[in-house]
Formats: sequence, structure tokens, C-alpha cells
Amino acid sequence: MKIAMVGTGYVGLPQGAVFANVGNKVICVDCLEDRINEIKKFCDGQTNKLPVHESGLNELVLRNYSSKSLDFTTDINYAVKESDLIFLCVGTPANGDGSVNTQYVLNVAKEVGNAMNYADDIYKMIVIKSTVPPGTAKEVSKVLKNTTNNNFDIISNPEFLAQGEAVSGSHKPDRIVIGLPKEKYFGSLKADSKSVELRETFRKLYAPFNMKGEDKVFFMTNEDAELHKYIANTYLAAQIAITNEAANLAKKVGANWRRLSAPFKYDHRIGSFIHPSTGFGGSCFPKDVKAIVKVFEKEGVESKVISKIIPANEYQKLILNQSLNEFYDSNLKDKTFSIWGLSFKAETNDTRESSAIEIIADLLKKGAKVKAYDPEGVPDMKLKLSERQDISDLLENIEFFSTYTHNSKYDALKQSDGLMVLTEWMEFRQPDFMEIKKLLKIPIILDGRDLFKPEQMKELGFNYICIGNENILQ
Ligand SMILES: NC(=O)c1ccc[n+]([C@@H]2O[C@H](COP(=O)([O-])OP(=O)(O)OC[C@H]3O[C@@H](n4cnc5c(N)ncnc54)[C@H](O)[C@@H]3O)[C@@H](O)[C@H]2O)c1
Repeated sequence: MKIAMVGTGYVGLPQGAVFANVGNKVICVDCLEDRINEIKKFCDGQTNKLPVHESGLNELVLRNYSSKSLDFTTDINYAVKESDLIFLCVGTPANGDGSVNTQYVLNVAKEVGNAMNYADDIYKMIVIKSTVPPGTAKEVSKVLKNTTNNNFDIISNPEFLAQGEAVSGSHKPDRIVIGLPKEKYFGSLKADSKSVELRETFRKLYAPFNMKGEDKVFFMTNEDAELHKYIANTYLAAQIAITNEAANLAKKVGANWRRLSAPFKYDHRIGSFIHPSTGFGGSCFPKDVKAIVKVFEKEGVESKVISKIIPANEYQKLILNQSLNEFYDSNLKDKTFSIWGLSFKAETNDTRESSAIEIIADLLKKGAKVKAYDPEGVPDMKLKLSERQDISDLLENIEFFSTYTHNSKYDALKQSDGLMVLTEWMEFRQPDFMEIKKLLKIPIILDGRDLFKPEQMKELGFNYICIGNENILQ
């Protein structure tokens, strides 16, 4: 199939490469010239990093670019003309009040509509992959009707990838949700030819990822698909919030969260997010939960549970800072703290809504200095911190270390008054503890990801503060 992916970010680039890899001809478009140039430089061997860090993505992009099944451009007219399916993968950030800003999606819809005017009697399938509130497919349809007389259908195909696993996840999706316009969805019951064609197209597109076991393709209406995506993220975010709150309680009553939560894995009704942390981040959970709360408000439906998830998560982000503050008798001024892990999770360079942002801002405001290391997330974190007005005059108190500047994680530890581990990168899971102890001024580790064994920490002589278990203070 001939496909255009509009928006070459964390969704559009991996998904475009995966579609190309199974035999489609894919053109990835972005309005950011720098981004397209960066990708092309990578493809031409002039750099070794893509703007999106995802495990397995570099190889996939290179292979499919070389075989000419994957191309990159800023020219949306060209991409639309050359493609039958146009995927909209642009951002849907939160407005100041938490509602969704769908402007990028609607702007792209207008550009696509205009681009479709290169001839008469054209038909395209416009696929919304961006996460959008219920009713957006209808708005996109209106925009297109106002810009072109050509024919189109609007399909909702929300994305469920987990960042860090975008490539492997896209090859093995757990479900594929396809929302059709309401009239086409019900039309299929009468074997309406257009709705049959739509279903067949998407069955064919996703066939390589739906070959074994149960059928994973679910057809529904656009509104169903739009809401499905929000509720899916809300379930996941709620579970993380419950885990974190329960782990805080476990710590208080002297229970051990790791021990007591292990059997949950064998109850299929309970999900897999049972590891406590300093809260969820990323571009999806925070934004999508805020958005669905706004939809509840707009529709006049009371939310007594879902509306509490974000406040609980904000509280959790500073849970380790509270412990650190207690450890140092509320005096963090002129102390230096090392942070390992800036990206919101492992295997991605994305730091959007990462708890590290709040943790660093809080430390700086309390007069502390920060030495921060991440293998991939430093450039993005620098950008995020530079956008924070409240700490703009404190940024000189943070020093960054990364593979980009050929530093190791140990370089960030010298003469520090403590180490906080905030991301579960593989390289943090079994570090050289003797080296850590030698480099730190005070041997204290704050574990925000439940990575280390309390008994081992005790044996090695560390003060160890984690979430869900009693502190080890020695
Ligand atoms: N990141 C994830 O893990 C994830 C997972 C599932 C769903 N989503 C959803 O997918 C959507 C995209 O997310 P993302 O993380 O890839 O965003 P992103 O910010 O990484 O990428 C969006 C890209 O769209 C480009 N863009 C914006 N306007 C454009 C235009 N007019 N023409 C061409 N390009 C344009 C931007 O330059 C940017 O490169 C969002 O709605 C998000 O909620 C994201």
C-alpha cells in the first residue's frame, strides 16, 4: 500500500518504518525542516542518532530507506499525491486548562484537503493516529469538506505503543482498533460496498501483525475508537497511581511492597503495573487523563475517581524529595545530588512530564546543586528545564553528564551528597556499588524505581531509601 505518515515523531517515525518493513511504500512528512534533515543525515551516514531514540529503530529506518520503501520529506503535497492512506500522527498537547489542543490535527487536515486538489475524482483514506477526544473525526471531516471536493473517509486508528518498545510493540500489537464513520460502520451490515472496502483495506494493512492466535482487529465507530484510547490510558494511569499510593502505605506500616505485591502477578484481573515509582510521565498518560477529565466536565458527567489520578501523581513525583529533606533535616542548601535517569522511562530519550523535571526543580529551589546523568535524555531535558520560568535563574546549578559528551554515570557522582535513581535503564540495574560508595561524599541511594535489594544495600553500608519499603538508615 502507499502510505503517508504526517508527523515524524515518537509515533509517526517508528510506525512508518514498521509499515515500510512489511512491504508498504511509506513517505514520512514533517513540517520541521530540521527534523527531516536530521533523519536524512542519519540515513546518509552523516550522523549516528535519529531524533527519536527507540530500540531497533535505527536499523529499521536504514534498511527501508536503502531499499527505497521509506522516504522523508517536508512536502505534504507530494506525500498526499503519492499515497492512498494518509496517517495523521501529529501532537495533541494539553491546553493550559488540561483540555486537548486539536489544532495541529485540524491544521494538518486542512493541508491534506488542499493537497488533495491536484486532480478531480480523487479518493483518500485519512487515518487519525493521534490521540484525539471523541468527536474529532467529525471535525476533521468538516475541515476536509471545506477544503476539497474530492472524496475521503476518516478512520480512527489510535496508537497503543509503549515508548521504548515502539518497534517491537508495533510488530506485535495486542490489539488493533479501527474506528469507521458511524454510517459506514452500520452500513457494513448491509454489505455496503464502501464499508466492506474500508474493512478489507485495514485487515490487509494489519495482516502481517495479526497472523497468529486470536483476531486482534476490532472494528467500531470513530467515537468508540477515540474514547477507547483515552479509557485505556486512564486504566493504566489509575493502576500506577494505586500502586504508588499502596506502596507509600506499605512503607508506613512496616510492610514490604515488593514481597506483598509479587503474588499480584498471578491474579489476571490485576494489571502488570505493580512496581512503585516517583509517578508516571511521558507524553501520554498525564495529558490523556487530564483530557478525559475535561471531557467529563464538558459532558456534565461527574468523575469521582478519574479526576483524582493526576493530583495523586503530582504528589508522588516529590515523594523521594520528602525523604531526602527529612534525611538532611530540611537543609539541602549547598548540597549536591546526583541523578541517574532523566527520561520518563527506559529506552527512550523523551523527557516529557518526566518526574525528574519536578524533582530537579524542587532540589534547585531548596538551594541544592544537581549533577544529572542519562544515556539518551540529556538534550531533551535541557530543553524542558529551559522552559521552566520558576527556575530560570537556578539553571547554572545543574551539570549534565551523558553519552553525548562521553561521560559515564560514575562521572556524575563525585563529591555528591546522595544519588537518586529515577529511570529503569538497564545500565542502572546492577551498578558497581563499591565505586558508587567511593565517589559519593555521603553513602545514600534513593531508589525511585524499586531496582535494588534492601538487604544488599544494608550489607554494603548504604543508607537506602526506596518506595514501598522501610528506609535503611545506618
Ligand atoms: N508518544 C507516544 O508514546 C504515543 C503513544 C500513543 C499515542 N500517541 C499520540 O500520538 C500523537 C503523536 O505523538 P508523538 O509523541 O509522536 O508526538 P511528537 O511531538 O513526537 O511528534 C509530532 C510531530 O508532528 C509534527 N507536526 C506538527 N504539525 C505538523 C504539520 N502540520 N505537518 C507535518 N508535521 C507536523 C511535529 O513537527 C512533530 O515532529 C499524539 O496525539 C499522542 O498523544 C503518542
